[in-house]
Amino acid sequence: MKKLMAANWKMYKTVAEGAATAAELVGLLDGRLPADREVLVCPSFTMLSAVAPILSKTPGCSAGAQNFYPAGQGAFTGEIAPEQLLDLGCAYALAGHSERRHVLGEGDELVGRKVTFGLGAGLRMILCVGETIEERRAGQVETVLARQLEKGLEGVLGTATAGNLAVAYEPVWAIGTGEVAGPAEILAAHAFVREKLVALLPTEGASVRILYGGSVKPDNAGIIIRLDNVDGVLVGGASLKADSFSQIVLA
Ligand code: 13P
Repeated sequence: MKKLMAANWKMYKTVAEGAATAAELVGLLDGRLPADREVLVCPSFTMLSAVAPILSKTPGCSAGAQNFYPAGQGAFTGEIAPEQLLDLGCAYALAGHSERRHVLGEGDELVGRKVTFGLGAGLRMILCVGETIEERRAGQVETVLARQLEKGLEGVLGTATAGNLAVAYEPVWAIGTGEVAGPAEILAAHAFVREKLVALLPTEGASVRILYGGSVKPDNAGIIIRLDNVDGVLVGGASLKADSFSQIVLA
């Protein structure tokens, strides 16, 4: 599987800014993207229709959504359905990002429904997991990851494959803080996630990609991406500028 180099633009940028950054990014990557790397950009819903066509013109690049509601259509004011995302040219979607869990109050059960529904609808899903600093200090990293993976993947046995599912390990304390997890912490967490994936998805778990996220920058990406069981990165702040994200993609 290709390494998945993913950008999460969170709630930043206007449509014009997003389109300009996407155009600059594909320009920087044109003819330079290694055959074993894939690029994904997850912008706000507002600019998906502008950004997705720019990315999909470049081989190995695609657009994804940061969230959706797990229903086909219906009376869900303010929500967006997977079908509507596919209609905009979205290939991927995130579920369970720490900001949705901790700022918007999403629980494991809703996250699990999103993963199941998204896969069923034809989106490739990235399930985000990760512990808070309090949980790490209390020695609960594996307990938290186990619970988030078990609940997040509860309904996907038989549907999830190495091609349509990825997991992003994003320790909450490393997100947006500049405090990147060290190689030993990343290795231990990813090894545990791999073990759980193999237990939960016996035929596919060994090859489902595991991404690391949390203060990935151009100067640490090269080390992180080469660690065992690191099959990609999910980048916030350093993905907002095409120049710095392209350096990460090529690291
Ligand atoms: P930062 O790269 O800004 O730490 O954000 C990580 C993240 O939340 C990606 O989803």
